[in-house]
Amino acid sequence: MTRPSTPSRSHRLRRLVLLMAGVLAGGAGLVVTGSADAGTTLGAAAAEKGRYYGAAVAAGRLGDSTYAGVLNREFNSVTAENEMKWDATEPSQGRFTYTNGDRILNHARANGKSVRGHALLWHAQQPPWAQSLSGTALRNAAINHVTQVATYYRGKIHSWDVVNEAFADGNSGGRRDSNLQRTGNDWIEAAFRAARAADPAAKLCYNDYNTDGINAKSTGIYNMVRDFKARGVPIDCVGLQSHLGTTIDSTYQANIQRFADLGVDVQITELDVQQGGNQANIFATVTRACLAVPRCTGITVWGVRDCDSWRTGANPLLFDCAGNKKAAYTAVLDALNAGGTTTPPGSTTPPPGSTTPPPGSTTPPPGSTTPPPAGGCTASVSMNAWTGGFVATVRVSAATAISGWTVTVALPAGTAVTGSWSTRAGGTTGTVAFGNVDYNGRIAAGGSTEFGFQGTGTPPAGTPGCSAA
Ligand code: G3I
Repeated sequence: MTRPSTPSRSHRLRRLVLLMAGVLAGGAGLVVTGSADAGTTLGAAAAEKGRYYGAAVAAGRLGDSTYAGVLNREFNSVTAENEMKWDATEPSQGRFTYTNGDRILNHARANGKSVRGHALLWHAQQPPWAQSLSGTALRNAAINHVTQVATYYRGKIHSWDVVNEAFADGNSGGRRDSNLQRTGNDWIEAAFRAARAADPAAKLCYNDYNTDGINAKSTGIYNMVRDFKARGVPIDCVGLQSHLGTTIDSTYQANIQRFADLGVDVQITELDVQQGGNQANIFATVTRACLAVPRCTGITVWGVRDCDSWRTGANPLLFDCAGNKKAAYTAVLDALNAGGTTTPPGSTTPPPGSTTPPPGSTTPPPGSTTPPPAGGCTASVSMNAWTGGFVATVRVSAATAISGWTVTVALPAGTAVTGSWSTRAGGTTGTVAFGNVDYNGRIAAGGSTEFGFQGTGTPPAGTPGCSAA
């Protein structure tokens, strides 16, 4: 059921030996199923495929050194398990408390991890005052909640679950009855519009469960997303929670694909799998399905160790209660490191193991030991600015393979960096050097990665400098 952790050196060596053996066996049409660059943690391996691998985190557990150790080592994305929900952030109407949400956010950002926001509106975990409202009063309170929380966290959240679990189980394919639904069918789009206005840089997701295959519920959501896209309602992603039992639907990947075909990203948002059946295989199947669809951009497991899970007794996660890696962990890591992935839109990172270089790639021949030229990277910025502040998303691209990078940005006088993600910022004013973090320093030839920072004052202009290691 569980097994001790595999030493990462021998893991990499084994892959290298297998790869070499394959090359020696030679022949055209060799299919490379592994990579000498295999990631040795979930986050690093996912990053090599242009994706994230995250975990739901409880603020109260961050002081547990085993928990924090596994979290910091393995995951490059974090979701607050309860701390950003309505009851936690607005316990009485108009009084907002972010203490525990901030603990998670700050821990994540200090360790170079991106943050998923969960969840702005949901029929469950509402504060008692909201539960007692209805009609216009509830609608106004709900939209104000979305605006206030998304504004507070503006520029710090990779993706928000704007609305959670609004569809009914069973065969109706329709909405779930709730106090929010009774304010009018347009409450979901009103929430998405408010979230976009409050945080233009965050990806806005609709998130639900029992949607882990093509069924009546997922089809109801599919129809809503299609309608939103047709009418210009801002929606960027669909979260498939994936709380799974001992089997997985044969249409799991096809379901991801059909959402992607609508023009939204898909994120696996709350993955956990009942132990006792095919746990490792199911985890691997989910991983492969996500890697097979370009717009499936990341996976989050709903907790770190089995004992941290909301599913008491199911042991549904990747680490046992002592923090040891389980067989399911190895299955996921191997699936992440295997070939055959697709690259998410916006990312030009080729899969390690891919034999087709991207257009314009200057990939050196196999066996080449030519070091990358000094300064072998470039950086470009996409800026979201408003009066008094901005969020900058920086893409670092490498013509030849690099193993680290530093981007320098000259800030105007009076401008200061107030936060950053997927980077370590070397200062807050003047010319600031942004360095890679452990999981995104290595960029394959022709590939790229993204980091971001936000600030107050006038946004920087011009092209940042980039130097590679
Ligand atoms: O913090 C209080 C504590 O002070 C109190 O003594 C204790 C007594 O029961 O309750 C504690 O709060 C609990 C909270 O988790 C923190 O542990 C709540 O009772 C409990 O209801 C809450 O459960 C959460 C559940 O959502 C609520 O619906 C789970 O941790 C959380 O994992 C779960 O997450 C949801 C997602 O948000 C949406 N999708 C389904 C998923 C699983 O249910």
